Amino acid sequence: MPYSVFGNKFTKHSGITELMDDLNAGVKGGDDILMLGGGNPASIPEIQQRLNKLIQELLDQGKLIDTLSNYDGPQGKNSFIDALAELFNDLYDWGLSGENIMLTNGSQNAFFYLFNLLGGNFSEGKSKKILFPLAPEYIGYADASVSEDAFVAVRPKINELNNGLFKYSVDFDAIKIDKDIGAICVSRPTNPTGNVLTDDEIVHLDQLAQNNNIPLIIDNAYGTPFPNIIFEDVKPFWNKNTILCLSLSKFGLPGARCGIVIANSKIIKAMSNLSGIMALSPGGIGPEIVLPLVKTKEILKLSNEVIKPFYLKKSQKAIRLLQDKIRSENMRIHKAEGALFLWIWFKDLPITSSELYKRLKEKGLLIVSGHYFFPGLEQSWQHTQECIRLNYAQDDDVVERGINILANEINDLYAL
Ligand SMILES: Cc1ncc(COP(=O)(O)O)c(C=O)c1O
Repeated sequence: MPYSVFGNKFTKHSGITELMDDLNAGVKGGDDILMLGGGNPASIPEIQQRLNKLIQELLDQGKLIDTLSNYDGPQGKNSFIDALAELFNDLYDWGLSGENIMLTNGSQNAFFYLFNLLGGNFSEGKSKKILFPLAPEYIGYADASVSEDAFVAVRPKINELNNGLFKYSVDFDAIKIDKDIGAICVSRPTNPTGNVLTDDEIVHLDQLAQNNNIPLIIDNAYGTPFPNIIFEDVKPFWNKNTILCLSLSKFGLPGARCGIVIANSKIIKAMSNLSGIMALSPGGIGPEIVLPLVKTKEILKLSNEVIKPFYLKKSQKAIRLLQDKIRSENMRIHKAEGALFLWIWFKDLPITSSELYKRLKEKGLLIVSGHYFFPGLEQSWQHTQECIRLNYAQDDDVVERGINILANEINDLYAL
């Protein structure tokens, strides 16, 4: 059966679908597969116990069934939106009201709305792209537009640091913004690299966005104030030209599919219209579960005192293991500044990173090949074939066994 242009675009192979398929296959494969690929957050016992208790309380009070048996409006659950506005206003000087916040079915859903609202085909035959000023960027953006060719990305500067580490930074000289750019978008902390754009970089990007009358989208899925998987001391950023996206997923509720968008009221109104048409309303269960944590601000304590130290410790351990076990001088690890991944660069790797992915998969280890993380990068660049992303959120034993497999493969490859 022939599909529409839309159908053909969304049924062809995409990196994010492969990743989610791998995640599902790995889950079905049980203990035989070491899942260091997908973006699943860790199951942190303290968080799970707290969520369990909250769900039990909702059940006991009859609120769980109330939530499940009612639609919210297209903007999402009002009580949660108001509680979020209060929390953010207590923390920062942003002057938010309920008109500045909406909920979506996961933040992935928000990016689909945003990229299609601000990029793609415009009237009179014009089109606009979304600019990623620092590639590599999140794989999930790559296909999230109904238009072909909807993104443009800029190669980063690579700063070599001590101890086999490196850090990307924005190459502002290489950024060109004209009327064909509809928005700037960055993830901070960045998936896949664990990079955190500096305060100066964010201020500079904000200025570029304002000067060109386009919004700056900041994807804060791992950032502050929750889940706060961010190890650098940087300032949270928002103004009326910023679209800040958050999520309950990395707090521990990816299955609840709850994304949060903070923006000026015009953008929120437009996005709510999209939400009404595409989903009627976002799911209410995540907001209902987390509402007491937001009202009492316990969400901050759990993020700062449980989630952040948990991931920090795991990232440091994974780096130590990699550096102990991989003998090559050619390995560099991106400085782990946040999120739940290590981005590993194998300079002059004798095979491509996607060939490496296949070899590791045969041995029972799933990682993600780095080449997926350059959506919109037009030039060919060897570096895109030399990196992998490794999720360190799984149990220590799983991470260690995975790193052993990776180390054997890499040590053999460079010994050839
Ligand atoms: C940077 C980034 N943004 C957005 C998302 C989407 O997350 P969700 O749709 O679960 O909120 C992810 C998921 O891994 C991510 O890593």
